[in-house]
Amino acid sequence: MAINLTNKPSNEKVIVPELNKTPFAIVESYKNLRTNLVSVLSKTDGKILAISSPYAAEGKSTTALNIAITLAQLNKKVVILDTDSRKPTIHKKAKINNEKGCMDILLGESTVDEVVITYNSYLDIITSGAKVKNPSELYSTVAFDKLLEELEERYDYIILDTPPINIVSDSLIIAQKCDAFVMVVRAGVTKYEAFEAAYDSLKVLDIELDGVIVNGSGAKNGGYYRKYGYKYYRYSRSYSNQQY
Ligand SMILES: Nc1ncnc2c1ncn2[C@@H]1O[C@H](COP(=O)(O)OP(=O)(O)OP(=O)(O)O)[C@@H](O)[C@H]1O
Ligand SMILES: [Mg+2]
Repeated sequence: MAINLTNKPSNEKVIVPELNKTPFAIVESYKNLRTNLVSVLSKTDGKILAISSPYAAEGKSTTALNIAITLAQLNKKVVILDTDSRKPTIHKKAKINNEKGCMDILLGESTVDEVVITYNSYLDIITSGAKVKNPSELYSTVAFDKLLEELEERYDYIILDTPPINIVSDSLIIAQKCDAFVMVVRAGVTKYEAFEAAYDSLKVLDIELDGVIVNGSGAKNGGYYRKYGYKYYRYSRSYSNQQY
């Protein structure tokens, strides 16, 4: 199993099975990221990691899926949960159906066993499922807490792909129930003000930001490594718009 990131939205080939087709730098970037995330989670014996970004199309879902794949390569049982029910894409990237999923569980209409899709020996996927009008309210329910508890019993890592922080409140609600929370920013796209607004929203709710993933850092500099490289930073006050 390997990872590929494409520049072509029309050809959303995220996962390429042949390792030799995957640029070394991408695999290495995700392995470094994995090391950091495993370390962050292990400090609290946590299993649940949520991924978000300030706005749309900054690479949340691509990053979340590739993190899940990379963690599963450690022979750990991993599940990725698509909690972006307003714009679900995990099923598209993984090329699976989105008939039933997370929302059906929260509505009490399905069980985990009825919706979970086995992707490989170590990675399972729960797609977003039914379209609902009030996803943020459903994430506030005990049903969501119970779902996370059930997943914690079954898996080593639970990865949540969430909607953008500055657009809807879902990710802030979800973040409060997770063990770690990281933000993706897209190099050359995410404005510093957007990052700051998202960071302020987290601060108001006392949600700790465990890291910032700079997606596509160095994209403007050309070169394969730089074009596709991912970098991972622990958030610090020195974070500035000069870094992307
Ligand atoms: N580093 C990258 N290089 C090239 N293309 C990328 C990169 N990161 C993401 N993309 C592309 O940008 C688009 C948006 O990515 P993705 O779906 O991961 O973002 P998102 O933040 O989850 O978006 P949304 O807010 O719509 O859910 C996709 O077509 C994806 O393939
Ligand atoms: Mg997405």
